[in-house]
Amino acid sequence: MTPQHTLLDYSSKARVQNVMLPQLARLVRVIPMVQDNYLFLFRFEDPHLNETFVYKPGQFVELTIIGTGEAPISISSTPTRKGVLEMCVRRMGRVTNALYNLPENSFVGIRGPYGNGYPVEDMKGHDVLIVAGGLGMAPLRSLLNYILDNRNQFGRLILMYGTKTPDDVLFRDELESLTRRGDLECLLAVEQAYQYPGAHPWRGKIGLVTDLFQYAKNIDVPNTIAAICGPPIFYKFVLEKLLKMNFSKDHILMSLERRMECGVGKCGHCAIGYKYTCIDGPIFTYWDVINMPELIEF
Ligand SMILES: Cc1cc2nc3c(=O)[nH]c(=O)nc-3n(C[C@H](O)[C@H](O)[C@H](O)COP(=O)(O)OP(=O)(O)OC[C@H]3O[C@@H](n4cnc5c(N)ncnc54)[C@H](O)[C@@H]3O)c2cc1C
Ligand code: FES
Repeated sequence: MTPQHTLLDYSSKARVQNVMLPQLARLVRVIPMVQDNYLFLFRFEDPHLNETFVYKPGQFVELTIIGTGEAPISISSTPTRKGVLEMCVRRMGRVTNALYNLPENSFVGIRGPYGNGYPVEDMKGHDVLIVAGGLGMAPLRSLLNYILDNRNQFGRLILMYGTKTPDDVLFRDELESLTRRGDLECLLAVEQAYQYPGAHPWRGKIGLVTDLFQYAKNIDVPNTIAAICGPPIFYKFVLEKLLKMNFSKDHILMSLERRMECGVGKCGHCAIGYKYTCIDGPIFTYWDVINMPELIEF
């Protein structure tokens, strides 16, 4: 079946031809956010590249830890704020452990950007509903800040973010400060808000991320694009909710991960049917997912 979406850019193959070479970058800062989920800030050694490195929210890079290997990582910063690339990385295995052991000022390699990214130009003029679970906030933070930096080009903006406990909330200070802004609805939920002496009190809701829908009244579904990212169980319940609300399948954008090697459609590691998730994704519409159920296991 041919996917019937119109939102996503499938011409990214052409754009990635000249970005195979890793560029030298410096790890300028490490910000511990939650346990084993730190924010890493990088600057290219070439100052010109720092200013000219162009990417879209939702794209990823291949990050090389010299002497260890490379891993695909989403860019968490927004292209509207130049000079530093931010990546939120979960400590998983060989490459990410080596990153956690790097002292600040160490060199790394960065090649990219890869993937299609969010179709931000086509999203302009629409309302946007961002729904994130856990580490899913990493790629969506880029989209969120991109929209905030171009606020007058988008309609209503709603963010719903859920984690297990307050200690798992990524970008907590940043998101709590957004709850005070009048130009977006920033709704945060944790499943359990236990308190311990000295803990920063939780001011968000208690419940599942899907419970947050009750606080976002009168969503104009035909004019809204939903961008969602989280673990498989999150997709199951959030999709159920969106479909019940009559969201069109091509207005639901999902950021999906697969094992990847080259990142540029050459090695075939990420192929599903006729698609390479590294160049045709990582952003897919729900329509794509229906046509390629191997993309995600619920
Ligand atoms: C497009 C894309 C964007 C990504 N963005 C981020 C990000 O922003 N932050 C982040 O922390 N991680 C991200 N990842 C996942 C990250 O690439 C992997 O966690 C990383 O490759 C692990 O490398 P490692 O050498 O540390 O672990 P390894 O030693 O390779 O593996 C450790 C464990 O993780 C599993 N694993 C490795 N890669 C994946 C994967 N892609 N999917 C599922 N399981 C995997 C392995 O099976 C093993 O159990 C992204 C992946 C993709 C494809
Ligand atoms: S990672 Fe090599 S083809 Fe996609």
